[in-house]
Amino acid sequence: MKIKKGVIPAAGLGTRFLPATKAQPKVMLPVLDTPALQYVVEEAVRSGITDILIITGRGQRSIEDHFDRSIELEAFLEAKGKFDELKQIREIAEMASIHYVRQKEALGLGHAVSVAEAFVSGEPFAVLLGDDLIHGSVPLLADMLRVHEKYGRSVVAALEVSREEIAMYGCIEPEWVEENLARIVSIIEKPAPGEAPSTLAAIGRYVFTPEIFDAIRETQPGRGGEIQLTDAINQLAQEQAVYANRFDRGRFDVGNLFDYLKATVELALEREDVGPAFRAYLGEVAARKKLL
Ligand code: UTP
Repeated sequence: MKIKKGVIPAAGLGTRFLPATKAQPKVMLPVLDTPALQYVVEEAVRSGITDILIITGRGQRSIEDHFDRSIELEAFLEAKGKFDELKQIREIAEMASIHYVRQKEALGLGHAVSVAEAFVSGEPFAVLLGDDLIHGSVPLLADMLRVHEKYGRSVVAALEVSREEIAMYGCIEPEWVEENLARIVSIIEKPAPGEAPSTLAAIGRYVFTPEIFDAIRETQPGRGGEIQLTDAINQLAQEQAVYANRFDRGRFDVGNLFDYLKATVELALEREDVGPAFRAYLGEVAARKKLL
């Protein structure tokens, strides 16, 4: 059975991106003229997900408004003859069937996923983190869904990072079964670089069997007092096979300022409207700042 349900946790506090995230959800930060979360919803839809649950937190009404109809704005654009813009904002409201549930307290990513239990009603489902952007040319989630169809088990996206960077991620101890597919022997949250069993990091795309909810229930608060999804995945991996699907490009963590800048520059260079002028500008800046 094809997976149709996707969960997007977006309730984190975004402390690495203050002050922008003080009164605005991190996932609504624009990358060019589009909120990060819209790229993620578009990716889910492209991968065959039709039913999406967004986990929101306090003060995140703008998320619901963004994916809803805006009758006033539509009437205004129509009256002004701005039909391209009108089509664009209508399409946002029609992309998928989107539902919302509140995570009442930011108790960690594992806890955020657990509030989706009623929505997924015992079926396998996808999870996409709202602040992790995957470039449109990389069919990561679609590949992971294929792995799930083949093995019937949970799948975690994985990326090779440096020894220093692994301390910021869930670190996977892999047992390779195909060129880019490993069975997860264990996974630990943010290990010290010296203790990391590998440099293979878990990234914000997952396909889960419903047994993940039992694993989350058994998970005690871990690092930072949060219920860590990584700990629950580790628990699940001891009970049934969990796979790591390795990919190697096109990922931006837009909750991190440097990655946010990279996403902005790379996507701007690819845009037909601003791309050529932006390319010329970057060349001029590089020469002026003596970068080249
Ligand atoms: P992060 O680790 O980026 O945490 O969460 P954060 O709180 O959003 O940001 P920082 O680290 O303080 O800057 C990873 C993903 O998990 C979601 C976030 O919204 C993000 O998509 N999340 C995290 C929740 O939905 N709830 C939580 O309690 C924690």
